[in-house]
Amino acid sequence: MDPVITNEQSSMPASRYEQLVQSVVDYAIYMLDPSGCIVSWNAGAERIKGYHASEVIGRHFALFFTLQDREEGRPERLLNQALEHGVAQDEGWRLRKDGSQFWALAALDVIRDDTGQFIGFAKVTRDITDRRESALQLDSIRAQLFQAQKLEALGQLTGGIAHDFNNLLSIIINAASLAMASQDQVRVKRLLELILDAGQRGTEMTQQLLGFARQRQMTPLAHRPKKLLSSALGMFRHALPPGIALEEEVESHLPSIEVDATQLQMVLLNLLFNARDVLQNGGLIRVSVKSVELNNAVEKLHGKFVCFEVNDNGKGIAPEVMPRIFEPFFTTKPFGKGTGLGLSQAYGFAKQSNGAILAESTLGLGTTIRLYLPAIDINP
Ligand SMILES: Nc1ncnc2c1ncn2[C@@H]1O[C@H](COP(=O)(O)OP(=O)(O)O)[C@@H](O)[C@H]1O
Ligand SMILES: [Mg+2]
Repeated sequence: MDPVITNEQSSMPASRYEQLVQSVVDYAIYMLDPSGCIVSWNAGAERIKGYHASEVIGRHFALFFTLQDREEGRPERLLNQALEHGVAQDEGWRLRKDGSQFWALAALDVIRDDTGQFIGFAKVTRDITDRRESALQLDSIRAQLFQAQKLEALGQLTGGIAHDFNNLLSIIINAASLAMASQDQVRVKRLLELILDAGQRGTEMTQQLLGFARQRQMTPLAHRPKKLLSSALGMFRHALPPGIALEEEVESHLPSIEVDATQLQMVLLNLLFNARDVLQNGGLIRVSVKSVELNNAVEKLHGKFVCFEVNDNGKGIAPEVMPRIFEPFFTTKPFGKGTGLGLSQAYGFAKQSNGAILAESTLGLGTTIRLYLPAIDINP
């Protein structure tokens, strides 16, 4: 069988078309007969897989699969899939002639002749080992950044939490010594209630912090936005200086969102820390969550979204700074006060969650950051 059959619809003369396919070196392009045996071979196939045409023509293409894939019937499954749907795609390890492996991105198309009769398959394979490795590296860098961010957020919280914890301990110690000295049953009972309440608040605090600090898998799950926001605010309150007021507005009946809870809490905490940092002389932070219907107005997003909004009445962001705020490591804060990772992490999180994050600011009036995340139907 001749590979030039694939050229039936093209206006290019068959021989030139064949020349073209033959000379492509970045892709392995070859044909299989209906049983999966190789009938043609191009320069790219020779370069990627290491076999000369004379060594592979007539052999079954399962030759390129790992032993495990062959035992699991992957080559046959691909052929069947292509037959059923007209095309099959696959990504996985393949073997070169020298036994080394490469990560392949492969497409298998059914070829029919003029009369519609099935005559074989066209196989196009790319070696994307490098791309896969960079993707894996990126994942690992992302995980490290995530960890760094978490430590930063925890560092921001510890001072405030230690302070609040101390207050709770003072309440417990004072109430206990007063109770020990008192003969009045009613008074003793009231003091014990105080102790119990302080103890419970302390437990809640540690639970919140532990839940956040514990290393978790970055897997998105369905969550209620209200719960996620209140747990972020619960932590943030410990780090809130007295001169800053915090207002919270949560729409009722919000749809759920599918996110990694720790990551979202980190993003919200960072938006809140940013607002706090810009309000050195006191001010107001307003936080809200509502549901919105988007129609291309925000980064071409469509459909129902949940919008988290953090607004401050600080000095605002200068127009020349604005285009850079989502850049990794961009910070206007002094050394030791900012890493410049917060908003870049927020940006990555929004993109990864098929949402968006936008900043709006007026110099002298304040800043609003909006985080849009797609709503999901189910209620956890
Ligand atoms: N609410 C805000 N008001 C004014 N400037 C802000 C605000 N949020 C972010 N910025 C600016 O964006 C920069 C980057 O923020 P971010 O990525 O969180 O890093 P960092 O907080 O470590 O500086 C900040 O240094 C600041 O200049
Ligand atoms: Mg920040």
